[in-house]
Parts: sequence; structure tokens; C-alpha cells
Amino acid sequence: MMRMNPFKPTAGAEPPVLAGRDGILYDFEMGLEEGVGAPGRLMRITGPRGSGKTVLLTELGDIARRRGWRVLDVTAAERLPELICRRLERSSDAEYELGIDLMVVKASARLGDKGESADDVYEALGRVARALTKHGKGLLVTIDEIQDASIGEVREIAVAIQHLIREKQNIAFIFAGLTSGVMDLLGEDGPTFLRRAYPEELGTIPTDEVAAALRSTIEKNGMAIDDAALAAAADATAGYAYLIQLVGYNIWRCAQIRREGDEGSILAEDVQRGIRAARDDFDRCVLEAAIGHLPKTAMEYLLAMTEDHGASSTGEIAARLGVGAPSLTSTRKLLVSRQIIEPTARGYVTFSIPFMREYLVQNRRSLLARYGVEL
Ligand SMILES: Nc1ncnc2c1ncn2[C@@H]1O[C@H](COP(=O)(O)OP(=O)(O)O)[C@@H](O)[C@H]1O
Ligand SMILES: [Mg+2]
Repeated sequence: MMRMNPFKPTAGAEPPVLAGRDGILYDFEMGLEEGVGAPGRLMRITGPRGSGKTVLLTELGDIARRRGWRVLDVTAAERLPELICRRLERSSDAEYELGIDLMVVKASARLGDKGESADDVYEALGRVARALTKHGKGLLVTIDEIQDASIGEVREIAVAIQHLIREKQNIAFIFAGLTSGVMDLLGEDGPTFLRRAYPEELGTIPTDEVAAALRSTIEKNGMAIDDAALAAAADATAGYAYLIQLVGYNIWRCAQIRREGDEGSILAEDVQRGIRAARDDFDRCVLEAAIGHLPKTAMEYLLAMTEDHGASSTGEIAARLGVGAPSLTSTRKLLVSRQIIEPTARGYVTFSIPFMREYLVQNRRSLLARYGVEL
């Protein structure tokens, strides 16, 4: 019998079980409950690609929706404040059910000739938030990939939201993005209000929570797995959200196509094969995608880092490459901005994506050959 694969190894796709996020979901729900000024109403979510930021925004949005809040999800784009104004003009189900008449909103928010909004983002957010607040509901705004937004536009939106919180309107704001990009955005002259946002860095998900999520997905969908096989599968994910789905997907798949043995179980051999397939997918879709098209110096920089087991000293990397440390500054910045590496302390960096070190070590020869270097 062929069973449908429940795992979802696709960017932004809601996983069958959300691992390791109970705490943040609870904090957010309490934030909605506790009222204006609760910390859960202003959050920032950071992490590397594939750590589960987009999916988490969706889940948080669902919580707000269940409480009758309106949710406005946007992804950073040019002219973000105008995008928000335009999207706010459309009434949502929440408003429809409450009988809130947004015709007023539409009338005053008419677009100018060049498609620019005649409205300002504070006015637009204010009208919707006030109408909802009056009915005991509220407005949640989420911005994904915020590292791609311009700082001026983010400031404009932040100021508007801050004012509405001061006016005691029910408004919540959650933004998500790549760690280093968000830090840059919030840096020295970033909006102070946003720097105070409750920080949630999506790091490694504990192995026991990964195992629980894998097990419950497998069992809910009519298959079984024993403890040892489950532990091996959970281990192979390194607690990385995307790998949970990739490993789950592949071990399930291997059990379905196996010809002999227990049909209703994912066996140790399926797990072994599945992990290998998952790592191959991960190499191609994540690791290779991250380091493809790097300039030669950047590749050499990464390879020099593989000699360390933890964080690497930037001074030592320079020494290994036989150059002065200052000449590597722009290379380091490029690698940080692509979220391949990240600073751990002043003068130290480490890899941002799991298994990057292993991938570089295993493929050293072919990676260098791309730049004409023969070993
Ligand atoms: N908490 C989680 N538990 C299990 N799988 C998750 C979790 N969060 C995300 N995923 C899975 O990881 C992958 C990447 O998620 P996504 O939200 O697109 O990451 P990001 O936005 O950080 O790049 C998707 O396949 C998604 O289903
Ligand atoms: Mg995303």
C-alpha cells in the first residue's frame, strides 16, 4: 500500500508538526491576551535560511486569526509602506464579520495617478487598528525577509506602529529575516523601537523535540518506527528545521519503495538510506546554492575556516592564507551578508549553516578546481 508522504521539505510550506516552537507560540498568544504593551506583541524572528522563519510567521498569524484579529502578511519589497496601505484597503474576513465599514478607508486612501498612495502608513494602519480595537479585536502586521527592506521605510512603519501602541490600539508587529541583515537594519541608527522587539533567534531545535515531531508525524500517518531508528533520524537533522522535513521525507520514501520486510514500519535500513538521500538533497539545494558563484578569495576563506572545529579567528584565517587581515575584510563581509558565516565575537566567525564544514572538507578538491586550482 502506498502511503502519502506527510513531510514538507519546501520553503514556506507548513510542516505536519511544528517542532520546538511551543514557547514562542505561547508568548505570542499571551501577548494578545495581556493587552497593549505586552512584549509578545512586538517580536523579531531571525535565523539562517531554512530555520523556519516564514512558517513561524504563518503559525503566529493563525493564532491571531483564531482570536478574530486581522493579519496582514507582507514580504519586503520596494515601497513597502505603500504596499501596506494598498493591502489594508481591502476588507478582510475579520472586518467583514464584524461589519466594519472600510468604505471610509477606501475613500480617503485613494491611490494617486502614479500609483502612489495618497495615504500615509500611520493613517492607514490607524484606521484599521482603531476599528478592530473598538470591537475587542486587533491587527497583526508581519514582514518577512525584512533584511531586504530599506531602513528608511522600515523606520516609517515602525514609527507608525509605535504611535498606535501609545494610543493603546490593539496592534502587534512581527518581523523576520536573516540574522546579520536584521542586525544591520537595527544597527546604530536603526529605529530604537524595533531594537526593543522581543528577539527570537531560531537556533538548533533540541533533539528530543525533533524526535517527538518525527514520531508523531510518522504515527499519525499510519506508519511505525522504533526508538533506535528514530534516534538516528533525529540526530541527522542537526536540529535544523529544513532538515527535519528532508530527513522525514526521505526515510518515509525509502520505506515505501523497499521491496522486502515490514511494510508498516520505517526500518533502520530505511533510515540509513533516507539520511544519505536527505544529505544529498541538502548539499545540492542548500549548501551548493549558498556557495555557488563565490569569488575565489571567498572560497579560500571558507576552506581555511574548515581547519577549526568551532569558531575561527579572523587573524588566523589571514595567516593561513598568507595575507594581512585587513585585506580580507570585504571577503568576510560578503560571506556574512550571504549568511554563510556569522561573527561569534569580535574577530571570530563560524559557519551559519549546519554541515557546511563537512561539505567543504569533502569537496575541497572539486571546489578549488572550479577556480583552476589543481591540488
Ligand atoms: N518548527 C519546525 N518544525 C519542523 N519543520 C519545520 C519547522 N519550521 C520550518 N520547518 C520546515 O523547514 C523548511 C523551511 O521553513 P521556512 O519557514 O521556509 O524557513 P525560512 O523562512 O527560515 O527559510 C520547510 O520545509 C518547513 O516545513
Ligand atoms: Mg522564509
